[in-house]
Amino acid sequence: MSHTEPSVTERLEETVKAVRAKVSLVPRVGVVLGSGLGAFADGLKELVKLPYETLPHLPASKVVGHAGNLCFGHVDDVPVVCMQGRVHIYEGHPMWQVVHGVRTMARLGVSCVLITNAAGGLEAGWSAGDLMIISDHLNLSGMHPLLGPNEEALGTRFPDMTNAYDTRLREQLREVSKAEALPLREGVYAALSGPSYETPAEIRMLRTLGAQAVGMSTVPEVIALRHMRVRCAALSCITNMAAGLGSGELDHKEVEETAKARRADLQRLLRGWIVKAGQS
Ligand code: HPA
Repeated sequence: MSHTEPSVTERLEETVKAVRAKVSLVPRVGVVLGSGLGAFADGLKELVKLPYETLPHLPASKVVGHAGNLCFGHVDDVPVVCMQGRVHIYEGHPMWQVVHGVRTMARLGVSCVLITNAAGGLEAGWSAGDLMIISDHLNLSGMHPLLGPNEEALGTRFPDMTNAYDTRLREQLREVSKAEALPLREGVYAALSGPSYETPAEIRMLRTLGAQAVGMSTVPEVIALRHMRVRCAALSCITNMAAGLGSGELDHKEVEETAKARRADLQRLLRGWIVKAGQS
């Protein structure tokens, strides 16, 4: 008996249907919460939390520091959906699954998504704890979420990436940064697959290529969202200076601890931004 796998679009419809059966809120803004940053979702008003394992096709991350919940609620009067935890390329999931959460948010109706992550810093003069607006990316992961037949129902075969990190959304982040007196860096994020951290030689290469930060996430999600014409912004918490630039070895514990130490500031930024972005 032949058995055909459901298409990405069919799986998406199943996930969206399961969500809609449980929550009536139609989110306007989406947020992806990275390593050590998940707690933001717990502060949403009228919070409804759906564990990924209660929804079809949404895998939970096994990485320490990542919960696995789709969270709905309000920031002021803006309806929001948050991914509390995400899966990464290095966990071995197929690429469609790495981006299934953000595609679900897009199908639920969000007009823009802010993605957060932990990243290593590459710039002289930067330090652990700095926050950075991503202005553009280098996809060096060796992977791409749109390989294979194009899902015509989602977007075009050759999506444009010129304004992948939306100019207006970045402006709004800068406005909130000013109002909250929370300085923000801005720079290019290089995405590698991981899971090992980079070698010092790789970090020198990335600096030559024009990157200011390096990490193992975000880029698949941004590509998948731009395919669906959803506007994106992204913020990195520079949790450590990259390999060979700081003192000593890199450690996930340090990444988590730095992200947690900047959590309150990042939450202020997110709240301020959501209120602005929810109106435009
Ligand atoms: N490299 C890659 N990913 C990271 C790093 C890093 O130094 N820090 C946090 N995520």
